[in-house]
Amino acid sequence: MGKLWGGRFQKDTSKEVNDFNSSIDIDKVMYKEDIEGSIAHVTMISNCGIISLEEGKTIIAGLKSILNKIENGELSFTSDNEDIHMNIETLLIKEIGEVGKKLHTARSRNDQVALDIRMYLKGEIENLKSRILDFQKIILKKASENLYTIMPGYTHLQRAQGITFAHHLMAYSEMLKRDYERLEDCYKRMNSMPLGSGALATTTYPINRVMVKELLNFDRLGVNSIDAVADRDFVLELANDLSMIMMHLSRFSEEIILWCSSEFSFVELDDAYSTGSSIMPQKKNPDVAELVRGKTGRVYGNQVALLTMMKGIPLAYNKDMQEDKELIFDSINTVKICLSTFSKMIDTLTVKEENMKKACKEGFINATDLADYLVKKNIAFRDAHKILGEMVFYCIENKKHLEDLSLEELKSFSEVFTEEAYEVLDIVNCVENRDVIGGPSSKQVTIRLKELKDYIVKKEMDKE
Ligand code: ARG
Repeated sequence: MGKLWGGRFQKDTSKEVNDFNSSIDIDKVMYKEDIEGSIAHVTMISNCGIISLEEGKTIIAGLKSILNKIENGELSFTSDNEDIHMNIETLLIKEIGEVGKKLHTARSRNDQVALDIRMYLKGEIENLKSRILDFQKIILKKASENLYTIMPGYTHLQRAQGITFAHHLMAYSEMLKRDYERLEDCYKRMNSMPLGSGALATTTYPINRVMVKELLNFDRLGVNSIDAVADRDFVLELANDLSMIMMHLSRFSEEIILWCSSEFSFVELDDAYSTGSSIMPQKKNPDVAELVRGKTGRVYGNQVALLTMMKGIPLAYNKDMQEDKELIFDSINTVKICLSTFSKMIDTLTVKEENMKKACKEGFINATDLADYLVKKNIAFRDAHKILGEMVFYCIENKKHLEDLSLEELKSFSEVFTEEAYEVLDIVNCVENRDVIGGPSSKQVTIRLKELKDYIVKKEMDKE
């Protein structure tokens, strides 16, 4: 069969242009959405009397049979038919004959592709959300196990104040919650049904767009036909949401990589989630975390490519927009594999509690706590800060920790010091005394863990 649009042409497309123009290798993954969309379209045009009910039935049966055959691997696509839309239409005509040629009545590939990509991405958003929830479950478990695992918290990558491993992990849970909500939000805006917009200016047939919207589970209709076919904002929004997920995973990766080094030695990755060196027999490398960090670049790249692809094209549809799929599909696949591999790596890692605790010894991370103690004894914070600064300097000079100073030494810096100071300096107390909303105390983190658990249950219920 020649091209579906071949009537106006005197010559065949050159082989090179044929391949250049074809997107089937990429958009074939949308075969199901394309067929579902076509079934809804045919249901509607046959109900509206645009084609007969009998014809509608035959076409729908043909489309269902094609779907079956595709899923059983009995049919294949060809680049001669350019994209998934024309491949399916051609297969339909082969399957049911002449009546198949009525499928594309009152429709254009422009509104068809705008529909298919929305349907496909809606499904992928649900998949991504599930993977985020799976990761949240792992964080919940790991954090619950490490409610009392004390470690130094850092600013500027310098030991700063005492926290727990649970509190640190729960910071990532907050990021993932925002990632999840961004996806929910993106879904809402994507949920507008473009079919019926035609090439750009709708159609003269008496179609029923509301019916199609309902059959396909969309929230609302795209109400400007030009925008409905020219809009790819939802692809861009998703690309951004995916970049942000990668940014979060990449920060986490960076920490894992640091923590695995002998310099930190805070965690050990499971053998199944690390790799060796071809030359250095002793090596155990955090390749998964490094790859996640590295792949963040391509997800950002896809976003920038999409933004650039869209920025100069006049309304409405232009073929430039065919490039959207390869880019967004790559981002989706990358984020999916990263979320699942990375979260399993976290699930299986061993926490080296002793080393974390030991690291709290150095770096005077209890200095703020002792300054606060002075403030409670009626010394202005700025003065207390200065006193502690001098005490830290003294300790460095004398190779001591704050808690090693005798009461006499303490008193030489301020008369108000008593034995209580040693309680305040104890790292466990430093953490537990930070008992305000958002703080690292076991009480506060327990509240957050309970919230996270409820959140996961609620989101899983929403899915059903
Ligand atoms: N394969 C095309 C795409 O992905 C489908 C729309 C083609 N429309 C057209 N008028 N050539 O954008």
